[in-house]
Amino acid sequence: MRTADIGVVGLAVMGSNLARNFARHGFTVAVYNRTYAKTQELIAEHGGDGDFVPSEELADFVASLKRPRKAMIMVQAGKATDAVIESLAELMEPGDMIIDGGNAHFENTRRREAALRERGIHFVGTGVSGGEEGALNGPSIMPGGSAESYESLGPILEAISAKAPDGTPCCTRLGPDGAGHFVKMVHNGIEYSDMQLIGEAYDLLRRGAGIEPTELSKIFSEWNTGDLDSYLIEITAEVLGHTDAATGKPFVDVVLDQAGQKGTGRWTVQIALDLGVPVTGIAEATFARALSSGTRQREGAVGVLSGPDGGVDLPESFVDDVRQALYASKIVAYAQGFDQIAAANAEFGWDIDLGSCAALWRSGCIIRAGFLDKITAAWRGNPGLPTLLAAPEFTKIVTEAQDAWRRVVSAAVQAGIPTPGFSAALAYYDGLRSKRLPAALIQGQRDFFGAHTYKRVDREGTFHTEWSGDRSETEL
Ligand code: 6PG
Repeated sequence: MRTADIGVVGLAVMGSNLARNFARHGFTVAVYNRTYAKTQELIAEHGGDGDFVPSEELADFVASLKRPRKAMIMVQAGKATDAVIESLAELMEPGDMIIDGGNAHFENTRRREAALRERGIHFVGTGVSGGEEGALNGPSIMPGGSAESYESLGPILEAISAKAPDGTPCCTRLGPDGAGHFVKMVHNGIEYSDMQLIGEAYDLLRRGAGIEPTELSKIFSEWNTGDLDSYLIEITAEVLGHTDAATGKPFVDVVLDQAGQKGTGRWTVQIALDLGVPVTGIAEATFARALSSGTRQREGAVGVLSGPDGGVDLPESFVDDVRQALYASKIVAYAQGFDQIAAANAEFGWDIDLGSCAALWRSGCIIRAGFLDKITAAWRGNPGLPTLLAAPEFTKIVTEAQDAWRRVVSAAVQAGIPTPGFSAALAYYDGLRSKRLPAALIQGQRDFFGAHTYKRVDREGTFHTEWSGDRSETEL
């Protein structure tokens, strides 16, 4: 019997593209899908990509794998994943590995890893980013799991991963149990934020400055040659330049303006709340999607709530102002995302290296961008940075951009164009750099109605004022 280097369970487009990617890199790939027709389809259409071992039964699939067995599952998150894991585990032996490449919640990954560890099986929760094309031609891969599993699995994943401009594979073991899926979740949160900011830039230039989509497509292409060079800017130019065949209108005008979401942005925000990390850019982006889809409220408000609707007088320089505001806000989004990973390190006892995260996002993934080289260098140069914004290079960028940033947010407010992403990012920046925040007043209020106590600026200790009495202060 032939023995496969790795196997893939679940041959929908992501699974089959990953299987083809493994095969194209010279690995023998076992493939299994619940409906055998899908497996046959893969072999019929792409069998020429390399050496596949198709199986109709899961037991044969497992038997066709070299020891220690490596089975990558690409099935629906939730119950389907649990069911496949259980069926595989029953057929496997200690030392074997189950790799979950889907967008699983990291808490589920932790649970599954702990349960399988008891049975001697390695469970490797792995983020895979880059969509269908990335899966086939080189995704960014974010594995968690044991160091032992990475010894034999790592080289295979690294071989099929995207390569950064300096040639290093965009695949690094990030830490035990849920670390990989956590990093992928934050990647998606940043993706939400980035997409929202680009959306706001588009809205400001279209509704505010009256620039048509074809022209905007050129502006985004131009931006893609500078600091903003990134996959998301590149595809924005493509989408804006596309004309709907049926109507001859700009494609962007015929699409219903209700953004969907599968949940990873929401998870990022939920967990950030638990960790107490202000990921305001990601939160605003997630809420903006919810607002867009809140049809009942929107229908009740359009034509009822009054205000300006773009179309204000804007100077020629506004386009470049928006570019700078976008760049600065984007840096804030990344800074917040990295803070969340650092907080998770402390909470879950991980040691995820922020420089390695930035490095493996440089190619293959959805948020790949030229400036990730700078972020990588910033974390590697000083892993103890209190915030990415404090890295000299980024301090300089946001300092230089801030006049434009403020003009853009002011213009947006005047024009009645919602820019929750730009505004939240600027407010975060101003919040961080404020010597005094109104939190002092909030502490006073809390102490007033709930005796929640406060600390003083001038001496150590915890204090309470007798608000309903003589207003004397006691030290507790
Ligand atoms: C990626 C993407 C991928 C997927 C998102 C889309 O990194 O390849 O992030 O994981 O496209 O799940 O998420 P929404 O449907 O929530 O926008």
